[in-house]
Amino acid sequence: MSDAEQPRLRAALLAWFDRQGRDLPWRQGPEGRRDPYRAWVAEVLLQQTQVARGLGYYHRFLTAFPSVQALAAAPLDDVLKAWEGCGYYARARNLHRAAQQVTREGLPRTHAEWLALPGVGPYTAAALSSFTQNAPHAVNDGNVRRVLARLHAEPAPTPRWVQQQADALLDPARPGAWNEAVMDLGATVCTPKRPQCGACPLSGWCGARASGQPGDYPAPKTRPAVQTVQAVAVLIGNAQCAVLERRDGALLGGLLGLPSQPFDPAQPGAPAQALHALCARLNAVPGPLLGEVTHTMTHRQVTWQVYAATGGPPLTDVGSAALSRLDHKALALAGRRAQSLFPV
Ligand code: ADE
Repeated sequence: MSDAEQPRLRAALLAWFDRQGRDLPWRQGPEGRRDPYRAWVAEVLLQQTQVARGLGYYHRFLTAFPSVQALAAAPLDDVLKAWEGCGYYARARNLHRAAQQVTREGLPRTHAEWLALPGVGPYTAAALSSFTQNAPHAVNDGNVRRVLARLHAEPAPTPRWVQQQADALLDPARPGAWNEAVMDLGATVCTPKRPQCGACPLSGWCGARASGQPGDYPAPKTRPAVQTVQAVAVLIGNAQCAVLERRDGALLGGLLGLPSQPFDPAQPGAPAQALHALCARLNAVPGPLLGEVTHTMTHRQVTWQVYAATGGPPLTDVGSAALSRLDHKALALAGRRAQSLFPV
């Protein structure tokens, strides 16, 4: 595509976006001058969460913490609770820490100031500076990568290549709208499978469409293998009140959860040994197997054999704690067992 074509291409995509862009709650407010706190919460949520799922979490989080001051003043446990279900809890911890920094130093006014906040990387800084300060910074995510790879018929786009193309195409007059237009095109028209080229405002410029095989761009990435983890967990108490421990580690660190102990499935007798070691540590007596639960995250699949146990440390109210989905699945086993033991 020649440089002379760029203004026409931009105008075509922005006209499509003005007509057909998604009406999403975090898009309220004047273009390029959105409320920074609300935009920020949305972008952090959407970092690893699909829009459809993010909608509910967004409302719940803003109801709990309507302002950056409210977020900064809240105990971390309350923030983790409001984040429950969204996963990647480091995002909530960083958002909380950054809110405290912002109440001392003021909200960021530039792309560089956004980038300096905990948990704000190049994507989020570009998104937020374009949405709230009309700053000319192009976002680069999976949707942008796919749209640009197809437009230029590039089968193997590197992150650097995508950023260069995104910077070159960005509409300097409406950078925030442009960024969201590319996101929406990727999410609704230029989809990974079966792109709807007939509905695409860029089809006249699209190299992948001209090739006749638009879905072949970009070529699939080879994904790293999912790591599998096996562990025993104990449920002392019931689905409402149970012994919970605070986890450490990068993934679910800071959250409460059922006590658990990993084991090596290749070792004979390892689950029983892990259960006894866990109960000895808790000063508890192991009981029957309640069942098995599995939860898959991006790079990890965790399977727990969940045992009942008695004794151990004091119980915690489950409803007021932030728990992972795996813990909720394990606690649901207690509900099912109680029902079958005590039929009404
Ligand atoms: N994904 C990340 N940011 C988004 C936004 N502002 N709108 C829609 N999807 C998004």
